[in-house]
Parts: sequence; C-alpha cells; structure tokens
Amino acid sequence: MTARGKFISLEGGEGVGKSTQVKALAGALRQRGIEVVITREPGGSDGAERIRELLLTGSEDRWGPQAEALLFAAARADHLDKTIRPALDAGHWVLADRFIDSSLAYQGGAGELGIEAVRSINAFGIGDDFPDRTLVLALAEGGARARARDNEDSDRIGGRPEGYHQKVDLAFRLIAAEEPGRVRIIDASGLPDEVTQRLVDALEDLLP
Ligand code: TYD
Repeated sequence: MTARGKFISLEGGEGVGKSTQVKALAGALRQRGIEVVITREPGGSDGAERIRELLLTGSEDRWGPQAEALLFAAARADHLDKTIRPALDAGHWVLADRFIDSSLAYQGGAGELGIEAVRSINAFGIGDDFPDRTLVLALAEGGARARARDNEDSDRIGGRPEGYHQKVDLAFRLIAAEEPGRVRIIDASGLPDEVTQRLVDALEDLLP
C-alpha cells in the first residue's frame, strides 16, 4: 500500500513573496525525491476555479461576509474532493498556495465573522483533512510597503484597506499561537533562497 502523502499549506498576507516560495519549496522537495502537486486557493479544481472568479471580481458589496465565507468554504470542499485527497491517496505531497487559514485570517479575523465561526463552517467540508503543516510567511515590518507596491493590480479582497490587512497579519499570528504543532510563522525577510531554507527546516520532522 502506498503511504499517504503529506499536505502542506503556505499562507501569508499580501506581498510576502508567497508565489515564488511555493515554486521554490516544491523544487526543494522534488530534489529529495518527493512527488509534489502544487495547487492554490481559491481554486485548485474546475468548480473551485469558477467560484474563485465569483469571489475575486466585482464590487466590494457583491457578497456579504457570510456568503463570502461560505463560498470560500464551498470552493475548498470541492478542491479537497477533486484534487487534494486523490493526490494524497496516491502518495503525493500536496503544496497548497493558501488553504483554511486564509479564511480564518481574512474572513474570520479581519472580517466581522470571528475565527471560530469560520473554523466551524469550514470543518464541515474539511473533515479530518487539515494540513499536516501550515507555513505562514510573515514580514516583521514592511507588509504595508509590499502591499502599497502591489496595490495596482489587486483583486476584490487584496484591494481592501490597510487596516483590514493589518488584522489579517495579526490573525495569522494568533492562529499560529493557538496551533503551534500545525502552524509555524516563517520569517519572509532576506534572500529568497534563505526563506526557502527556513521553509524546508520547518518541515524537517515530516520529511522521509
Ligand atoms: P490571489 O490572487 O490568489 O492572491 P495571493 O497572491 O495574495 O495569494 O488572491 C487570493 C485573495 O483571496 C487574497 O487576497 C486572499 C483572499 N482569500 C481569502 O480572503 N480567503 C480565503 O479563504 C482564501 C483562500 C483567499
């Protein structure tokens, strides 16, 4: 029987270099002989990519807070069914660019719903398949600067006010403090290679 793969999610606020690090971390894992499937949220399956479009385009008031959180949760349930669980069952590792902790931080901590309410609506779709490890890229300072730089092509959520994004950063730190076994804060400053090495180090106990 093939051993089930490991499920890793990468998280962080806007402008912390997450997309670059997802690719670099996948490369580092593949060098160790691990088969890696890269995926992303919102999206990662046909149905969830359709929901992504609904969530990230249009006016701010297109969705109220509850509908927005439920759409993210629905997309996530489909992403798990169609992409993540089959890959894990086949023995591959899954590297997800965002997963439930984005909902906890954005809709829960920064939005008005609260982390607990968002955790419970997501638990229905996720069941036991929480990530084995969640790595949150964080900049001690400079988050605001990075966001200002990225602001021109921001989407419906990325374009929310600075105060919202500060609450997102704070919520990620809160979640990491609550679940230290699963969630680790990774310093995103310095050269990209240095950051990748920190990510690999934070997976040491899971590596074959
Ligand atoms: P994306 O273009 O994937 O941005 P990034 O490069 O920052 O990952 O857009 C995803 C946006 O959706 C981003 O602003 C974070 C937000 N988001 C939530 O608010 N809740 C969620 O559950 C997820 C997965 C993403």
